Amino acid sequence: GLVNTREMFKRAIKGGYAIPAFNFNNLEQLQAIIKASSELRSPVILQVSKGARKYANQTLLRYLAEGAVEYAKELGCHHPEIVLHLDHGDSFETCKSCVDYGFSSVMIDGSALPYEENIALTKKVVEYAHQYDVTVEAELGVLAGVEDDVVAEVSHYTKPEEVVDFATRTGCDSLAISIGTSHGAYKFTPEQCTRDPKTGRLIPPPLAFDVLAAIEKQLPGFPIVLHGSSSVPQEYVDIINEHGGKLPNAVGIPEDQLRQAAKSAVCKINIDSDSRLAFTAGVRQTFDEHPEYFDPRQYCGKAREYMEDLYKHKIIDVLGSENKL
Ligand code: G3H
Ligand code: 13P
Ligand code: ZN
Repeated sequence: GLVNTREMFKRAIKGGYAIPAFNFNNLEQLQAIIKASSELRSPVILQVSKGARKYANQTLLRYLAEGAVEYAKELGCHHPEIVLHLDHGDSFETCKSCVDYGFSSVMIDGSALPYEENIALTKKVVEYAHQYDVTVEAELGVLAGVEDDVVAEVSHYTKPEEVVDFATRTGCDSLAISIGTSHGAYKFTPEQCTRDPKTGRLIPPPLAFDVLAAIEKQLPGFPIVLHGSSSVPQEYVDIINEHGGKLPNAVGIPEDQLRQAAKSAVCKINIDSDSRLAFTAGVRQTFDEHPEYFDPRQYCGKAREYMEDLYKHKIIDVLGSENKL
């Protein structure tokens, strides 16, 4: 069945790699995630946001995830490690409902609350979830960008002097931190970036690795999570823009910085936007090249291929989670 994150995080920190956490909202995304992770023998976290629950129905998502464990075995992966995780849980009730529905991990995101309220809410979720051996991710510090309905203009880095108190008092199993990543395909404004003089492409400001190092020093060996970690691959943005799309100045986190993070106590890296870009690139390209197509399997099939390539690339070349089962 589904597993929680405890053991896989321990191994990832020791081994200097990170577990991929991919969001899914539909069958094609899930198929691509399971194919990539099974063939490459990588543990994987399937993430479901509040928006995904609304779009696809929580019950369907839960049985899809359970079916995914069987699908992984069919693909020859005899002992898959698949987590079904609630992404950005916004209340005790949402988290409880996911625990009751069979999720193996939940996130309670109290990062927008005052410090003591974040602790109280997180602690309440931990106490409930741990009764069912469900692991809990918490968040301290604020990411810039869009998070479900919440939009933060500026980020506030996690304060390293708070993390020991927070982790001890809440009992959370992992901690999402803010060191300059953000959600979506527009992580930085052109003004925040410099430009490559040759290609004219945007070069984003570097992540705050000094803050990450200070957090690790406070909490040695504790599982750290990085949200907003899409790299916004230029190849997909180009395909989209060449086939009728309009994504000017889309920019993400450079993959060499994610590689560096994966080697540290960062043991879970969240990627959603890159999968959306790959899906959209596949659909736009197919429609443009084949105006006669009207069977969704034709354009969703292409989209699924692009996503599978993307997930494999992340596992092999960025997170380093290949052959870790
Ligand atoms: O945190 C953001 C994730 O990418 C989920 O996005 O709320 O649009 O499903 P969503
Ligand atoms: P991206 O928007 O960078 O893919 O981040 C996804 C995420 O953090 C989901 O929680
Ligand atoms: Zn997130």
